[in-house]
Amino acid sequence: MYRLIRPLLFSLDPERAHDFTLAALRHGYRLPGAARLLRGVYAHRVPPLPVRILGMELDNPVGLAAGLDKNAACTGPLADLGFGFIELGTVTPRAQAGNPKKRMFRIPEHEAIINRMGFNSGGLEPFLRNLRKAHRSCPLGVNIGKNRDTPAQRATDDYVLSLRAVYPFADYVTVNISSPNTPGLRALQDQDSLAALLPVLKSEQESLARTHGRYVPLAVKIAPDLSDTQIGTIARQLLEHRIDAVIATNTTLARPQLGNAASAGEAGGLSGRPLRPLSTHVIGELYRSTGGRIPIIGVGGISDAGDAWEKILAGADLLQIYTALIYRGPAVLRDIVSGLRARLAAAGAASFAEARAARSGRTPVGETSR
Ligand SMILES: Cc1cc2nc3c(=O)[nH]c(=O)nc-3n(C[C@H](O)[C@H](O)[C@H](O)COP(=O)(O)O)c2cc1C
Repeated sequence: MYRLIRPLLFSLDPERAHDFTLAALRHGYRLPGAARLLRGVYAHRVPPLPVRILGMELDNPVGLAAGLDKNAACTGPLADLGFGFIELGTVTPRAQAGNPKKRMFRIPEHEAIINRMGFNSGGLEPFLRNLRKAHRSCPLGVNIGKNRDTPAQRATDDYVLSLRAVYPFADYVTVNISSPNTPGLRALQDQDSLAALLPVLKSEQESLARTHGRYVPLAVKIAPDLSDTQIGTIARQLLEHRIDAVIATNTTLARPQLGNAASAGEAGGLSGRPLRPLSTHVIGELYRSTGGRIPIIGVGGISDAGDAWEKILAGADLLQIYTALIYRGPAVLRDIVSGLRARLAAAGAASFAEARAARSGRTPVGETSR
């Protein structure tokens, strides 16, 4: 189906194509039979690969990465594409427009995108209105960020405010400190900033868990543009503050492999195929530094089952995609999940942790199971 629609979408400006697709999904979904059609064409063709992790039961380990459904307006149709889980947001506490357009660029010959959206967000109010009535046919993560005009020294306040607001409706919450398009945001990954931010968020999470009688895991999303020393320091801090999961990675400021492709010089974060090795490297370093004690959600340039398996072997327990969905359409999910099943079977492993252990000749670590 997507193969027929793609030429039309690619004839539009990328952000218009994005807005058009979400609006079509949202409105079309109200038509009688639309949900059944979507599920029949996509979700039902994704084979089961159940994973139990972070208190969630997933039909498969491949989720939608943050940034596509920033306002939680499209959970029903997105779940019916067959995702194992969906990450909504980034939502900022107050509404903000983001950077001036044009701010999203395709690089088709590399199946890549450069974006400098800058957290365009309707703010918490409409986000929560949507989230309250959201379809919940798969677990929903919520990715939270700070407003551009919130001073760096008040960043924690923005995260705490959003954590409190989304907590009752989320299956996990992601603290986004790695978008390259909000000035100063990535500095929150520095040792001193994390030492200030993480304990406050952890204690807020514990207090919310008592209030709501439900523990919602906290994940931190990091950038691919970090040295191994920085990754090691972050890993130690995540362990020290008992953060539940880490998402690696966001988009990169580097421009690997792009040569002189049109739009390669645009400012912003690069996603898609050229990001893959950078993000896999970060996953590997995180896995080594944490000894597999924190679940890793691997994201960055996954286009097929081979890319997905590479990230699993590097240490990922769950995966997310965004850019491959734009270039290959929702059927990419079926290809990835069936390829992962085949690779697990070929490895004679019952879980990703077992497959990793079989490779390294060690006892499995991590809690992924199927
Ligand atoms: C247009 C666009 C917008 C994005 N917006 C966000 C965002 O709001 N928050 C976030 O954490 N990541 C955002 N991302 C990053 C993705 O979640 C993901 O980490 C990154 O694109 C790498 O995955 P991919 O190569 O499969 O696209 C965005 C990516 C794109 C392409």
